[in-house]
Amino acid sequence: MTKNEKQLKWVKNNFQHKNFKDNDLKNFDKENVREILNFQKTHPSYTHTPLYSLAHLADHLQISILMAKDESQRFGLNAFKVLGGIYAMAKYIANQLGEEIEDLSFEKLKDPSVKERLGDVTFISATDGNHGRGVAWAARELGFKSVIYMPKGSSAQRLEAIRNEGALAEIQDVNYDDTVRICARLAEKNGWVMVQDTAWEGYEEIPLWIMQGYSSIAYEIVEQWNETTDLPPTHLFLQAGVGSFAAGIAGYFLKIYGEQAPKIVIVEPDQADCFYQSFITDNGERTFVSGLMATEMAGLACGEPNTEAFKLLRGSAAGVLSCDDSIATTGMRVYGNPLKSDPRVISGESGSVTLGAVYYLKKFMKNHSITAELELNDESRVLVINTEGDTDEENYRKIVWDGFLPVQ
Ligand SMILES: Cc1ncc(COP(=O)(O)O)c(C=O)c1O
Repeated sequence: MTKNEKQLKWVKNNFQHKNFKDNDLKNFDKENVREILNFQKTHPSYTHTPLYSLAHLADHLQISILMAKDESQRFGLNAFKVLGGIYAMAKYIANQLGEEIEDLSFEKLKDPSVKERLGDVTFISATDGNHGRGVAWAARELGFKSVIYMPKGSSAQRLEAIRNEGALAEIQDVNYDDTVRICARLAEKNGWVMVQDTAWEGYEEIPLWIMQGYSSIAYEIVEQWNETTDLPPTHLFLQAGVGSFAAGIAGYFLKIYGEQAPKIVIVEPDQADCFYQSFITDNGERTFVSGLMATEMAGLACGEPNTEAFKLLRGSAAGVLSCDDSIATTGMRVYGNPLKSDPRVISGESGSVTLGAVYYLKKFMKNHSITAELELNDESRVLVINTEGDTDEENYRKIVWDGFLPVQ
């Protein structure tokens, strides 16, 4: 194995297109997602995030188009995650009230009469940072309580940000997947509402709403992309922890573009590459990664794929890139130091790995069979999403200023 092959590994998904039906995408149709976006837009701090053309970088890497959606600018929360939590919590409340989400706005949900009808509700969630901050934020805005648990090794700044939203937040002594189990038990014991961004057998409804909440990013992208070019993207690189984000975005693109849909490439940290391991095992089932999953990409440090996201991605993704941390740190530096008039993007560890992977493939593995198999060439129209900004500012500076974890 060469040095480059150790840094970035690829597995093709042999289950792509097998038993995959349009029905699997029923939750991501345009009308549905537009309605969700319309609800999210009722929040006064909603703005759509920019889709940047990194034209000079595309030239440099010899690809046709390179676009980056910048979710660090979402709701002032430095990450995309709140889109899922806010929609799922609203949908839960709407169901409890016996109302339709399209008849509700964020303002209406804040009305004291809603709390009177529902009583005290406590929302609970496990998080590496971004999702929990979104849940805590939405709970505070709506006047409810939240309890947020984080896995061992979580960043003190991310914990503080969640506490600042009024949540009872603590770091546990176990990994992400075990933290989820602790929260599920507490929810059951105390009658709290679990708002988790991953699904397992018997817990699918709220995670589906969360995935649908993320799809509105894809809705925005398609509108913005179409303003620039008539040709759809050829490649969509999506980072995955449990895979809810990747499935929410991929689901919408597959639904909208059908046969013309871009190649979906999942990108994971090599210390938490549960999709990679599942596709290597190649029996169509999920394979788990356990242990502490020490990676700089805290948002992606999850070892058990969301059951529903896995089904969707197993049927549709081209494969997975499993990346060393230095791929993500390189992505942060490239985003932060643009070429010529390309815009500068502040990207955190989990946000940058997709651009880092594209850069690494074109720069260091240009003639490698992986790049050839991905058909990443001068006709490619590549789309990446920066899913977070500098959610850990100290680490951001250590990486971008001090050159921590250089590319090998
Ligand atoms: C910044 C960031 N990007 C991507 C993801 C991946 O999302 P998912 O766990 O749904 O795969 C996360 C998850 O927390 C995240 O925080």
